[in-house]
Amino acid sequence: GGIGNTTLAGTVYKAEREKFDCHAWVSISQTYTREDVLRRLIIELFRDKHNVPSNIATMDTTAMQEELRMFLEQKRYLVTLDDVWAPEAYTDLFGALPPNLKGSRIIITTRIADVAHLAFPDQRILTLEPLSKDESWKLFCKKAFPDRECPAELQTLSEQIVCRCEGLPLAIVSIGSLLFVRNKTLEEWRRIHDQLSWEIINNPRLDHVRNVLHLSFIYLPTYLKSCFLYCALFPE
Ligand SMILES: Nc1ncnc2c1ncn2[C@@H]1O[C@H](COP(=O)(O)OP(=O)(O)OP(=O)(O)O)[C@@H](O)[C@H]1O
Ligand SMILES: [Mg+2]
Repeated sequence: GGIGNTTLAGTVYKAEREKFDCHAWVSISQTYTREDVLRRLIIELFRDKHNVPSNIATMDTTAMQEELRMFLEQKRYLVTLDDVWAPEAYTDLFGALPPNLKGSRIIITTRIADVAHLAFPDQRILTLEPLSKDESWKLFCKKAFPDRECPAELQTLSEQIVCRCEGLPLAIVSIGSLLFVRNKTLEEWRRIHDQLSWEIINNPRLDHVRNVLHLSFIYLPTYLKSCFLYCALFPE
């Protein structure tokens, strides 16, 4: 996770959605119910254009699928299903999204290769690669030093910290934001750099990137730690 699937899909969705007759973005995640997703699709797609059926709260799956099929048949629609895990999601949901010749588009984001291949057997699949060294550095600086350049004395340590993120945007954004609120001194930078190295050596359970995320957790103030742990109890 954290490679940038949702970010990329979101950017494309926002840039393109006005070119379609109707559009919807639905987050699926690991636990979803077909009823709930179909209901959210209807509410989003029907918005502005058409009255949402008044009995939407009580409609069963078949009725909602039928409603969607009828509504979408003659429309150019854009639907994004974000973060799909289960291959069944494909059969669960695609049936309600009729193929038409209007230039409609369905975007799915997923961490699971099988889900992508099942949904798009014609190989229209984009696999995101980690950021290059250069891109990683730029993203890090944007977060850690938003209004200036990286100070020369912090350059080497910063580069070593960024290197530990292995090009993963989530790790770079986390550590960059952590460093943004710290004192921009050599001692502070060294302390965080050394702690990260210590974590990597002494925490073999976690891979490099998880160690970076673990460090951002360690540095949270106590009240936010409780908040974070509480949120982590729930599915995404
Ligand atoms: N190309 C990018 N440039 C700058 N920041 C990025 C980029 N890609 C991702 N990010 C940042 O990295 C973080 C994680 O990205 P995102 O949520 O898109 O990952 P994901 O692949 O959808 O993860 P998951 O599999 O958990 O859903 C976000 O804070 C996002 O803002
Ligand atoms: Mg995502």
